[in-house]
Amino acid sequence: MRPRELKPGIHFVGAVDWDRRLFDELIPLPDGTSYNSYFVSGSDKTALIDTVDPAMWHVLKANLDSLSNPRIDYVVCHHAEQDHSGCIPLILELYPEAIVLCTLKCKGMIADHLNVPDARVREVADGEVIDLGGKSLRFIHSPWVHWPETMMTYVAEDKLLFPCDFLGSHLATSSLYASSNESTLHSAKRYYAEIMMPFRPMVKRHLATLRKLDIEIIAPSHGPVHDVPEMIFAAYEDWTSDAVANEVVLSFVSMHGSTKLMVDYLTSALVERGVTVKRFDLARSDIGELAMALVDAATVVLGTPTVLGGPHPLAVYAAFLVGALRPKTRYAAVIGSFGWGGRTVEKVSALVGDLGLELLEPVLAKGLPVEADYAALDRLAEAIAQKHSGLDKPA
Ligand code: FEO
Repeated sequence: MRPRELKPGIHFVGAVDWDRRLFDELIPLPDGTSYNSYFVSGSDKTALIDTVDPAMWHVLKANLDSLSNPRIDYVVCHHAEQDHSGCIPLILELYPEAIVLCTLKCKGMIADHLNVPDARVREVADGEVIDLGGKSLRFIHSPWVHWPETMMTYVAEDKLLFPCDFLGSHLATSSLYASSNESTLHSAKRYYAEIMMPFRPMVKRHLATLRKLDIEIIAPSHGPVHDVPEMIFAAYEDWTSDAVANEVVLSFVSMHGSTKLMVDYLTSALVERGVTVKRFDLARSDIGELAMALVDAATVVLGTPTVLGGPHPLAVYAAFLVGALRPKTRYAAVIGSFGWGGRTVEKVSALVGDLGLELLEPVLAKGLPVEADYAALDRLAEAIAQKHSGLDKPA
């Protein structure tokens, strides 16, 4: 794919990765991704905005070679993660005059991870402006979207923002722009859930900062470019708000069917009470879909059998994920069956303990659930429905 012009003098020179299916050996990529690098050309100087994953170096190089002014004075490094910074050593080798611009913390990180020598790096301050001639780069320090060193760049002359990971999406598409296509929000929401949700307070703060800028184009480092900034801003303000929906994320694993009987019963009991249920069989589910469901849900219920004195390993993984992703979920409960004992509830509670969730009465059946267990599930469903009454966000 050839460089594509966003504005006069600003080109997309990144790479679309149609076939990648896993990120960080953890995050499923059902729709691929892209590594968006941009070339900004002023009348005096030029800047490369981030690079690409090293596996796509050949694409970045070909795109740069095809530009009429391939000199690079600056390489803006918004983020030290290698899917953006990984080709910086190759760029510095190819363009001996180029200097990397980044935050102080990022300078240390690219030295640690990529052996970029200090002499080729210049720290930029929050709010500092670098003039390229007719175009200027204003740096906005924005820690924790996604790592502690992250920053963004604003080009006032073009009302264009480069936010790197922030406001991006893992989506390989032939469309340069998201436009008003709301289906792109599905990928953006999944990306928010997997990457940004743990940092919700910081995300809100950075959103407020960006709202003060006059922005026509948001060019992130993954996924399509937002030419309708209001669409992604409004979505992020919704996802990061404190409002939760009348939804239960019911994730479960069942070995011999007892826990599944309880999950099926609780599902019906909740639906009968007007509560939306999003179910995830942990042995088969896409973990990204689970993360996305956590963005809005008021309650999470984990169904698990007891294995070797504790929750099933897949349930441990799900509970760990909830604890790590830090959703705004308010209530949680554990249900499941056991054979002869165990400390399942205590172990799950420890994994989500610092989220400030209200833990509802667990329901644990010895072997197959009996009438008393189903009655307890009814009480749990009723408690959830009551907790959810008057929630301010539609499911
Ligand atoms: Fe796209 Fe945090 O790297």
